[in-house]
Amino acid sequence: EAFTAALSAVAVFKKQLSELVWISACLCSWCLSAHQFNVKDPDFARFRQTADFKLSLNTLRLNGVLPPSGDIELQAENLATQVSLVTDESMCHLHIPVKLLEPFGNGEDEKFGLNSELFDTLKRGTTLVEYSSPNIAKKFHAGHLRSTVIGNFIANLKQSLGNNVIRMNYLGDWGMQFGLLGAGFGQFGCQEKLKKNPLQHLFEVYVQVNKEAEHDDGLKQAARDFFRQLEQHESQAVSLWQQFREITVTEYQHVYKRLGVHFDIYSGESFHQDQAQEVVQQLQSRGLLKTSEKGTGVVDLSPDRDMSSVSTVLRSDGTTLYITRDIAAAIDRKEKYNFNEMIYVTDKSQMNHFHQLFQILLAMGHSWADRCQHVPFGLVQGMKTRTGEVVFLEDVLDEARARMLHNMSQSKTTKEMDNPEDTAEKVGISALIVQDFKGPLQSDYKFDWDRMLQAQGDTGVFLQYTHARLCSLLRRNEGLEAATFDPAVLHEQTGLTILQHLLRYDEVLYQSAQDLQPKHLVNFLLKLCHLIASAHKELPVKGSPRDVAQVRLQLFRGACSVLANGMRILGITPVDKM
Ligand code: ARG
Repeated sequence: EAFTAALSAVAVFKKQLSELVWISACLCSWCLSAHQFNVKDPDFARFRQTADFKLSLNTLRLNGVLPPSGDIELQAENLATQVSLVTDESMCHLHIPVKLLEPFGNGEDEKFGLNSELFDTLKRGTTLVEYSSPNIAKKFHAGHLRSTVIGNFIANLKQSLGNNVIRMNYLGDWGMQFGLLGAGFGQFGCQEKLKKNPLQHLFEVYVQVNKEAEHDDGLKQAARDFFRQLEQHESQAVSLWQQFREITVTEYQHVYKRLGVHFDIYSGESFHQDQAQEVVQQLQSRGLLKTSEKGTGVVDLSPDRDMSSVSTVLRSDGTTLYITRDIAAAIDRKEKYNFNEMIYVTDKSQMNHFHQLFQILLAMGHSWADRCQHVPFGLVQGMKTRTGEVVFLEDVLDEARARMLHNMSQSKTTKEMDNPEDTAEKVGISALIVQDFKGPLQSDYKFDWDRMLQAQGDTGVFLQYTHARLCSLLRRNEGLEAATFDPAVLHEQTGLTILQHLLRYDEVLYQSAQDLQPKHLVNFLLKLCHLIASAHKELPVKGSPRDVAQVRLQLFRGACSVLANGMRILGITPVDKM
């Protein structure tokens, strides 16, 4: 008997405990959402006590937090009413994530529409994001496009969350390939062609010299000589190299401009060649440098120090390598920018490289290497234009624009616009970005022009179309909006669902910042667009009573600004008309 009694006591206690957990979760969520509105405004009071609390119950339920029993909801609701009575200014400062239904910023500022104290916990001071990082004179391939758009997204996201962000491009501007290119240019190069179509010409020379060098030992020797001259800072070699570099950077900047991407710093491997030699000395003095059987300088990274896993930092001829320059570059950046975290964005084939890099930095005593992170991404397969395999990124952008322009000219809904080319460019680029961001970054994906440009599917075109349609609705109803928001008039489920969805914006950014995956934000925005598509049908503005029309318009405005701000974080420029 005693045992049964004890058991049931435990059961009651457990139930109470789970109720308690549930109620506190409700209250937290309620406080959160209540404070998304201006609590000082008495107009919101009723909303807070009823609709808003229900909203938070629903939000919790949607997020998989279930109430332990049916009647608990009632109790919780009573509690909410009581709590709302004690809501005073002391609670106002709790959390004010997104000010819904007031147009929040135009996203063009560095906050991308967010001004949230909720994210204070995430703030990491200065974040250095290194991305794009193409190789001079080699082709700018699909991988560099991925690195460019992913890095830009991460930088935007970090910035929106209040970090001070440094955007860095680390050019592959050093190494043996410049020996080949220099020697090759001597034989096959032409200054005139270089001025006219620099990337194309450098690329041609590069392809030709690589081919010739395979069976031409003289050329190979010339390449080694040229690189040695470069390393010894001989002026003629250096000035040719500088010319290659400048020309290429100028060309890249053109592409970056089209993509809406910018960098605070153009760094490069060449900046760290001397420091790389110092790194070798530091490794030596710390006893970390070993000589391999082949006579190269290595760092032993195997747990048992049996040289089963090593990283080569010095060639047998005394020259340094890619990783040696990366070690030097990381130390230099820490000294110059004192970042709190550093993020590298490259394809996944370099995972081991960065793993080794961080290990070596730690072994050298740089504990901040713990706060360095590599964000790897998968391959893009089959990126082709009508003329064939892609050599230059510009060709992809041109084709995206051309295809979009064609689609727009075929569509019945296309509006008249001042600059259709410009709209096609922006929409085409958003299609590229959304296709790239939809899945986990590590996965490979197939490049598919038709699928990514669909106006109705889950595409960048759909995001843009929804945004443009919202803008047009707001334009048509200018002046109708009320200064205050009366949510009691908004009772349709579609409206509430949109509101709930919008409330998740900050949470989604938080999630994306945790794992640096854009898919959370992309899928959130796509879902929002689907909801808006139904709302256009179910919540008409035209022909509705004035107060209903006003509230709906405010809801659409809130949705429009969340959509625009989210798109900007993704690196997409929203268009107002299409
Ligand atoms: N230039 C390199 C490549 O194209 C990417 C550089 C990545 N960044 C770095 N710090 N290693 O493969």
